[in-house]
Amino acid sequence: MAFLTLQGISKRYGDFTAIEHIDLDVERGELLALLGPSGCGKTTTLQMVAGFVSPTTGRILLDGRDITNERPEKRGIGVVFQSYALFPHMTVAGNVGFGLEMRKVRRKEREERVAEALSLVRLKGLGHRYPKELSGGQRQRVAIARAIAMEPELLLLDEPMSNLDAKLREEMHIELRAIQKRLGITTILVTHDQVEAMTMSDRIAVMHRGVIAQLSTPYDAYERPATPFASTFLGRTNAFSGEVLRRNPRCAEVDVAGTTLHVPHEGRHVDGAVHVYIRPEKVHLANGDARLRGRIATRVFVGNQWLLEVDTELGKLRVAQPNHGAPPPEEGHEVGLAWTDDDLRVLTQDSSEGAHGHA
Ligand SMILES: Nc1ncnc2c1ncn2[C@@H]1O[C@H](COP(=O)(O)OP(=O)(O)OP(=O)(O)O)[C@@H](O)[C@H]1O
Ligand SMILES: [Mg+2]
Repeated sequence: MAFLTLQGISKRYGDFTAIEHIDLDVERGELLALLGPSGCGKTTTLQMVAGFVSPTTGRILLDGRDITNERPEKRGIGVVFQSYALFPHMTVAGNVGFGLEMRKVRRKEREERVAEALSLVRLKGLGHRYPKELSGGQRQRVAIARAIAMEPELLLLDEPMSNLDAKLREEMHIELRAIQKRLGITTILVTHDQVEAMTMSDRIAVMHRGVIAQLSTPYDAYERPATPFASTFLGRTNAFSGEVLRRNPRCAEVDVAGTTLHVPHEGRHVDGAVHVYIRPEKVHLANGDARLRGRIATRVFVGNQWLLEVDTELGKLRVAQPNHGAPPPEEGHEVGLAWTDDDLRVLTQDSSEGAHGHA
């Protein structure tokens, strides 16, 4: 049985539906990311699990126990809020150890656990400082240390690294994930940062307008997006509108601007108006075996790769070329483009995604 279960959870504010019937299982020890754009309902979902917002419909089970109406402090859940609040009159060590003190953990053990938690978030030696003497990113890490020190069975993190600079955030992703794995803390991570979700989680729930658009491993979320929203939200992609001409056993023949593409449908029903997708890194420059020709409209160097926009008869095509070998031709030059059919994705156009709106 799953460690945490959300059954038919909805949340309405007046006639606005913030969350529409979410079913979700989180396994013991798993790190699950709730990923989605601002306002899609991530914090609302997390707050219902924490107990600070009560669901309009549905049940929440933690380790088999119905906690839907249980008070937050009874749930044994560690939370790092989006707007994390530290006690300003307490030192860093005081903040991190506060929960342990409330729980009457003895001083010596408390000090050890505080020191350990601070070293995990790389704040060793800053225990004597006050929150106002820290940077925003350091404060955020104190909030994380405070939650970890409690060794909760379930940890809820709401944008825990939003104030860290890019490099530190990248390091923290890897470290926090290692800590979470080592301690085996079941964790839900709320984020709108897809790199954070991809690098840290076992599974990603892509949220859109109050529903879960897709629940899968990071690899599948990226490689096999299940909805048009998930396709364009996760990473960059090229999207083209097309029309299915024929559905063969393995692939669909799709007309895109007068060109016929053969797109694997992976057993999905596809018919009529569709979108065809291909990732920029799956398109490459080609000479002899070009599928398509085009003119380079923009060429940008970003260090590890070149980003090109190529005008073609399908429309503008983004191409990402790894930075090895010679630089690609300059802007204005004509180039041939190629790809493998297996890298194309097709989804039926659907304008009725998501639940947001009036109930
Ligand atoms: N107390 C409330 N009353 C009315 N509407 C609310 C309330 N709390 C949240 N909402 C609405 O519910 C929707 C989801 O909000 P939520 O805070 O869960 O979004 P989020 O995904 O966490 O976004 P962000 O990434 O910006 O933090 C939003 O449209 C928000 O305006
Ligand atoms: Mg939020």
